[in-house]
Amino acid sequence: MSISVSTTQSGITAEAFEKIEKKLIQAHQKLYDATGQGNDFLGWVNWPVEYDKHEFIKIRDVADKIRSTCEVFLVIGIGGSYLGSKAAIDALNGNFFNELDSKSPRIYFVGNNLSAQYLQDILHLIEKKDICVNVISKSGTTTEPAVAFRIIKQFMKNKYGKQGAASRIFATTDRSKGALKKMSDFEGYETFQISDDIGGRYSVITAVGLLPMAVAGIDIEKFMSGVADGFAEYKEASILKNEAFKYAAYRNILYQNEKKIEILVNYEPSMIFLSEWWKQLFGESEGKEGRGIFPASVNFTADLHSMGQYIQEGERHIFETVIQIKKSQTDLVLPYDEKDLDGLNYIAGKSISYINEKALQGTSFAHVDGGVPNCLIEIDEMNAFNLGKLMYFFMISCGISGYLLGVNPFNQPGVEAYKKNMFALLGKEGFDDLKKTLLF
Ligand code: PA5
Repeated sequence: MSISVSTTQSGITAEAFEKIEKKLIQAHQKLYDATGQGNDFLGWVNWPVEYDKHEFIKIRDVADKIRSTCEVFLVIGIGGSYLGSKAAIDALNGNFFNELDSKSPRIYFVGNNLSAQYLQDILHLIEKKDICVNVISKSGTTTEPAVAFRIIKQFMKNKYGKQGAASRIFATTDRSKGALKKMSDFEGYETFQISDDIGGRYSVITAVGLLPMAVAGIDIEKFMSGVADGFAEYKEASILKNEAFKYAAYRNILYQNEKKIEILVNYEPSMIFLSEWWKQLFGESEGKEGRGIFPASVNFTADLHSMGQYIQEGERHIFETVIQIKKSQTDLVLPYDEKDLDGLNYIAGKSISYINEKALQGTSFAHVDGGVPNCLIEIDEMNAFNLGKLMYFFMISCGISGYLLGVNPFNQPGVEAYKKNMFALLGKEGFDDLKKTLLF
């Protein structure tokens, strides 16, 4: 993996770097010696080498059992409890994995919204199938997955009976507290633990991400080797040797130069959810106390026909971070056509990946020219090892970025505000206070 940034109009100069160097080294150090804010949520930093190997074997065994007994695997969770595995499954197995991979169960994600339509459609889809469920919630009390799980649990009990349902439900949650833990003990579900010191958006490298990935047939050992490779590489506070350190530096300099929005760019539809995972990671970690880069994403070339105009000529408060996969997992060659009615013979014989690469290069030149700094992350190919390393790369740079910004990258106090109002409106608690605030 290599990372570079265009210097055109970006303000990334040796002087700019020197100015933040000391703070950057301190921010990096806070992650490793656990002296910063939120230091009780740093379990993920050493997790690549310290993870529970027994639990890892259990994940693989349970995944094998699920793969051999179920046609459908439902993953119930929201935010950090589903985005990482969804991102990994799409990126590694492709967009149409459910339809194309006859050896794996179809995997559907629920509990990440409150849409009756979505849930009803899933129930119709799975009606006649053999099902296993992985309900994932660290707190065990999050409304969206809890609501979906109550519906699915009833469906499972009607289909398989109480005991049959229990043997097909797997819970990933806190080791000792929360409603989901209590329910799992009561109903007898097999459980996987989320360490107290690992927050949701940093949990893709635990059972939260690994069980669904293993059920999808992903080699989680290779994924964790990639994570461990990142662990070894990103320990050193060096802009020359540590790409995560470098990325955090670039982002911070760009932010100080009034580039308040970072757009993560992919050229593979299978990477759309990698961007969604990345947005949660950086958005929830940095966006607090009136500070933080707004993380956005576009999917090219599709969005060149919707967002391209703004990026080229709109307000100049954006920079792009492009992920380029150098070698496509598969390829196709554009055939020659004698009549050439579509005028494409000038690229006949070229591969689609080659054309995609030229689109990437042409777009990056144009955007840099239009005043949008461009940070390029190059990856040789998309595989489990490289994805593990990439995800850990983003996690480390996110921790450094948050500390550099002066916020606690491991809490999310702002997420509570909507919940408070929703609970009041649903009659759980606090309705009178809300009435006073809204004056109705
Ligand atoms: O990063 C986080 O902590 C959050 O985004 C959580 O992942 C999300 O809110 C889901 O929480 P839980 O796993 O407790 O249901």
